[in-house]
Amino acid sequence: MSAISSSVREAADSAEHELPRVVTELPGPASRALFERMDPHMTGANADHTLVPLVEARKRGHLVEDVDGNTFADHMSAWGASPFGPTPGDIRAAMVDAWDAHGMQISGWVPNLPALQLSERLAQIAPGRLTRVEYSVTGTLAVEAAVKFMRESSGRPLVLTFGGQYHGESTYLTAGASSDLSNVTSMRAQYVAGVVTVPYPNRFRSPFLNGPGPFDDVAVLDYLENYVLVQQIHPEQIAGLLIEPVLGEGGVHIPSQAFWDRLGALAKRWGWLVCLDEVQTCMGRCGEMFAMQRWEGIDPDLILLGKAFAAGGQPIAAILGTDEVLERTQLHLGSTYGFTPAACAAALAGIDKIEAGGVLENVRALESIFLDELAPALADIEQVGEVRAAGALAAIEFVRDGETLRPAPRFQVAVHQAALRRGVLGITQRGKWHYRLQPALTMPPEVFRDSCERVVDAIREVAAAPPVERPTVLESVADEAR
Ligand SMILES: Cc1ncc(COP(=O)(O)O)c(C=O)c1O
Repeated sequence: MSAISSSVREAADSAEHELPRVVTELPGPASRALFERMDPHMTGANADHTLVPLVEARKRGHLVEDVDGNTFADHMSAWGASPFGPTPGDIRAAMVDAWDAHGMQISGWVPNLPALQLSERLAQIAPGRLTRVEYSVTGTLAVEAAVKFMRESSGRPLVLTFGGQYHGESTYLTAGASSDLSNVTSMRAQYVAGVVTVPYPNRFRSPFLNGPGPFDDVAVLDYLENYVLVQQIHPEQIAGLLIEPVLGEGGVHIPSQAFWDRLGALAKRWGWLVCLDEVQTCMGRCGEMFAMQRWEGIDPDLILLGKAFAAGGQPIAAILGTDEVLERTQLHLGSTYGFTPAACAAALAGIDKIEAGGVLENVRALESIFLDELAPALADIEQVGEVRAAGALAAIEFVRDGETLRPAPRFQVAVHQAALRRGVLGITQRGKWHYRLQPALTMPPEVFRDSCERVVDAIREVAAAPPVERPTVLESVADEAR
């Protein structure tokens, strides 16, 4: 190990409990100078720095440090792909060993030990009837592959999805996910056939009823059964359903046990394959190895892994499936960069780390801080619609008022910006009305608690002079996508 890498690691360890500090306006002068140099060469989207007004110099512990010396508590964790903060030494060592032995290699063509060991391990930890695995480079490609598997295995054409989900940004998936028409689709529908969408179960806001919830989220399955399957498509045209066990990008919605029971019964009745997109929720993010383990009796045919599955190593995603779906398939899902030995070794080390203990317990502690400490501290703020968390996947939804619950996307962006000024780098998107925190699974509770206090402060600042919202949600989304 080089002197530089060991000194970087020591610095990271000592920063583990350090709290953030913002010492310049944002962006600071050094960040601004770099933007001015780079922007003429960037796409319009990448030259817009209003949401992340900083240039990262390095990560230390649970902090992102920018080139101006500001530090921010990292509540993005690379959108969940950096589950342990800066890649820990044991994971890096496993990755480097495999790299030294194999370099770049296409494991789907030339079998090797790290790839075989990872498959065996995944089969050991996989829930239910899942025994087989295929790999991919990204979550997007894993979802695309799952759709192919479902169609091949069932011989049926359609995939049922739930509105507000996010599965990636390929043309097919932006259509399939129907997350919104914002900047992933340039405000245009994608016109891709073969996807049927019903709303994602939502206990806070219902497309069927007005006024404050909580609503019975099974209502969406009544709509599916009594309208969609009667008026639009026959259930035997559906190959399978694609669902996030907890809606991630769509705002951390957590379905009820009754929803899963009824969905499972429908799937069984009509022969639908059940594919859980756990790209965002897997490997401890929601306090269990797989988020589906938060409920009883979910019996998937396919589970998709990504993000934290790579353990902060190299890009890798996986499709876990049953014998029935995967044993006889001849589908090729190849990619030149498809699961390198080093990526497999890091993923395996990541599973070891979670199984060694402590990680899931920490995630549950973060969930309690968010729900039991932060939520009550916001109870008197009218624009705070709901506070939700499933493990270390947490969201605050903002509304214009407590009566109509109409969304407040500008309020949300203003909260993000106020939080940044206080040293919290959370997850925001324009045109969305929930603000998210997605820290590393290993963030110390006191660092998380401190960030929550800063976020409460930020919300109070914005609530004191709320921004004027556009008249409709569509206008807000269109506005922000420009
Ligand atoms: C649930 C879900 N599925 C799929 C994807 C796409 O994964 P990737 O960005 O690795 O292509 C994401 C990414 O955020 C996701 O949250």
